[in-house]
Amino acid sequence: MADRLSCSRMAVSKSVQALSAEGYEIEVSKGNGYSLSVTDVLSDAVLSKTFSMPVFYFPECQSTFIESKKEINNGVKAPFAVVAGRQTGGRGRLGRSFFSPSGGIYMSVVLNGSDVPNPDLFTISASIATADAIESLTGKECSIKWVNDIYSSGRKIVGILTEGIVNMELGGLDQIIIGIGINLSGNDEDIPAELSGKLGFLFPEGKSPVTRAELAARVADNLVRIQGTDFMDEYRRRCFIIGRDITVIKPGKGEWPATAYGVDDNGHLLVRYPDGREEALSSGEVTLRI
Ligand code: BTN
Repeated sequence: MADRLSCSRMAVSKSVQALSAEGYEIEVSKGNGYSLSVTDVLSDAVLSKTFSMPVFYFPECQSTFIESKKEINNGVKAPFAVVAGRQTGGRGRLGRSFFSPSGGIYMSVVLNGSDVPNPDLFTISASIATADAIESLTGKECSIKWVNDIYSSGRKIVGILTEGIVNMELGGLDQIIIGIGINLSGNDEDIPAELSGKLGFLFPEGKSPVTRAELAARVADNLVRIQGTDFMDEYRRRCFIIGRDITVIKPGKGEWPATAYGVDDNGHLLVRYPDGREEALSSGEVTLRI
């Protein structure tokens, strides 16, 4: 190969390493050179072919939220997406970090506030957009734990977090950023001890039938398409805690046993406490009681 390209073997080897880091699967065979198989590649070129909105790619970044805000400050207009191969400081809900190793999909989609008719339900719309994309492209069934954690085979496989950028002069939402992390493929042994048994990979056993670029692009398309549609019935169908005994956790306040009996059209979780009192929860956290 070096002879054909009139370059050094070292130059070929360096290029092969760079391609491997992008996700190309290249086998080295001693004496015979290299062979390339069909692979799950994340790169600017691949993403710009699969996405129908402008997309910025980072093999590694601290958080796609940070990169999204940088692009907004650079004057990039929504809609656009940011995709990372891994994150070194992925942000989760309630100030937690989000485990973001290679093999997953870490993306933010930035939309104009005016393209999101119901900002209160945006995070719910994102959970349906993502669950539908995963099911249709991988065949893996997904259910949703209120508000927007996606589960498959009993483990959390997607986390979603929304941030709004408010227009201080005019009021209202300028842009809305949704951050979505999908644990597509990976090794259960790499999961941090504190998340073990809770977090999972969609394809822990091997190869995903869909590339990260295709799945990320479908999520972004679904997210745009679902705005303004009536998706609450689908959300209720997918929400697996309805009818279950749960613990309501209000950070800094306490924890209470309750039964979840529905989700209203505002996305609030309807719960009934043992003394008969009922509440519509708009935020906080719930866990299943087994
Ligand atoms: C959660 O379940 O706690 C929400 C996790 C949200 C993770 C995604 S990954 C892409 C985006 N960038 C981040 O830093 N966080 C979100």
